[in-house]
Amino acid sequence: MKIASTIEEVRKYIIEWKKEGFSVGLVPTMGYLHEGHESLIKKSASDNDKTVVSVFLNPIQFGKNEDLDTYPSDIDRDLNKCKNCGADLIFTPQVSEMYFNDFCTYVNVDNLTKGLCGAKRPGHFKGVCTIVSKLFNIVTPDKAYFGQKDAQQLAVIKRMVRDLNFNIKIIGCPIVREEDGLAKSSRNSYLSSEERKASLILYKSLMKAKKLFEKNEFDSNKIKQNIIEVINTEPLAKIDYVEIVDNTSLKPVNEIKNSTLIALAVYIGKTRLIDNIILGGKKNELAHA
Ligand code: PAF
Repeated sequence: MKIASTIEEVRKYIIEWKKEGFSVGLVPTMGYLHEGHESLIKKSASDNDKTVVSVFLNPIQFGKNEDLDTYPSDIDRDLNKCKNCGADLIFTPQVSEMYFNDFCTYVNVDNLTKGLCGAKRPGHFKGVCTIVSKLFNIVTPDKAYFGQKDAQQLAVIKRMVRDLNFNIKIIGCPIVREEDGLAKSSRNSYLSSEERKASLILYKSLMKAKKLFEKNEFDSNKIKQNIIEVINTEPLAKIDYVEIVDNTSLKPVNEIKNSTLIALAVYIGKTRLIDNIILGGKKNELAHA
């Protein structure tokens, strides 16, 4: 496995690989990898001849009062995981490699970024779309892999790729959960043991929604009300949002039918966790991959 910290090095490897006719998969990450990331790397390694994993804590996608300074990191552990999952190249640039001091060009996807996390984290998706576009231009992958856990991010990136004609296939991969249902996240490491127990309320509320849907309850308001009631039984939980939207347009829907996304963000103590479920698509997706 190769490790590169400059754009020039990455481009050299990519040119060599493309000359050989190899297909390239990209897994963008911010490090502190967990089984969710590992599933993306393994999927890319099985789909492509070469897999590039970027490990870059992207400062421009964090708001002023967010956790950029405390975001967990452990590059040696990450490198090991990447190697075990079949990655070929790890790109770990410094901030100065990715952003000139006078950097002033951004990619912004409108509309889809107005609600959900976009409403709560102004500028977040502009930062995500900008860094992902830069990585796409540097790595020029055939396919890029993103987790369904960040459902809005996945929908926004798919739209960006469509609208800006990136010749890259975006592959969304199922949420990976702990045995008890908590969605894997680097931010789970912030939770105390009491908060860890309390965090299960996100999954429980989504399971309640799924059960209601399976009993033919399609009314978004009723389902939303039930989710809110379940979350409010947990004293350590504070709802940031609960939204029921179309999974592609991210527009609110009154009735759950075709591929509807139920997305939530909940503070457990100071830690903001997100989770989601898709109902009414080909099959209900609350994956335990
Ligand atoms: O999902 C993430 O970890 C980040 O938003 C991403 C896609 C790596 C961009 O920094």
